[in-house]
Amino acid sequence: MRIVLVGPPGAGKGTQAAYLAENLAIPHISTGDLFRANISQGTPLGLEAKSYMDAGNLVPDEVTIGMARDRMNQADAANGFLLDGFPRNVSQAEALDEALKDDSVQLDAVLDLEVPEDEVVKRIAGRRICRKDSGHVFHVAYNPPKQEGVCDVCGGELYQRDDDREDTVRNRLEVYHTQTEPIIDYYRAQGLVTTISAMGKVQDVTARAMAALEREAA
Ligand code: AP5
Ligand code: MG
Repeated sequence: MRIVLVGPPGAGKGTQAAYLAENLAIPHISTGDLFRANISQGTPLGLEAKSYMDAGNLVPDEVTIGMARDRMNQADAANGFLLDGFPRNVSQAEALDEALKDDSVQLDAVLDLEVPEDEVVKRIAGRRICRKDSGHVFHVAYNPPKQEGVCDVCGGELYQRDDDREDTVRNRLEVYHTQTEPIIDYYRAQGLVTTISAMGKVQDVTARAMAALEREAA
């Protein structure tokens, strides 16, 4: 399946994507994680992305679209992928449509995670991620690691993301409403959107998401 996951910052996209990708045996492609990996490796792309990310703004399309395309062209994504955080504005959605058309394939579903803003703020405030792999995500209260400050998956150090500061979060939410939410209408016009509540336990949200994807695939 080819799936786009959309939802506000802190909705639980990365958390859900890890389970959904495993269940569906497709790679989880997160542009945020790709940028963070570039930043920790000190690449030119990482250096360019960091200033935008630290301010909570979108990294320019010219950089982002090429990076996402390169990742989607890797062998493991030939039969499907789960996109998390891409596309993030209408021009990225149009670029993705073009790329899929070139490959004679199409999206199967756009899964929209709905969470009230006060919950998003709590989720972000307590989030801790792994230095070795920013796809390893925890929460000090809702999903604590077995040992404080240590990643359960790989033993890496847990830390708070630079863009999880309160003022940056406010801007990320604003950017989500103005630039990213319009892609929901863009995909609704293609009949692809299925909205689920991302409230409640992580496993319950995964079950809801799997049921919605099975309906879309039927
Ligand atoms: P990105 O990394 O994509 O961040 P985001 O969209 O803001 O989303 P988050 O990663 O903050 O949240 P999430 O929904 O993944 O939630 P999570 O699972 O971690 O992007 C970062 C930046 O990179 C952007 O601001 C931009 O600068 C740049 N960028 C990325 N893609 C781009 C693009 N396409 N174009 C341009 N720029 C781009 O969960 C949050 C917390 O909640 C965790 O602590 C988790 O444990 C907890 N949690 C999860 N589910 C539950 C639950 N059910 N109950 C309780 N707690 C839960
Ligand atoms: Mg994420």
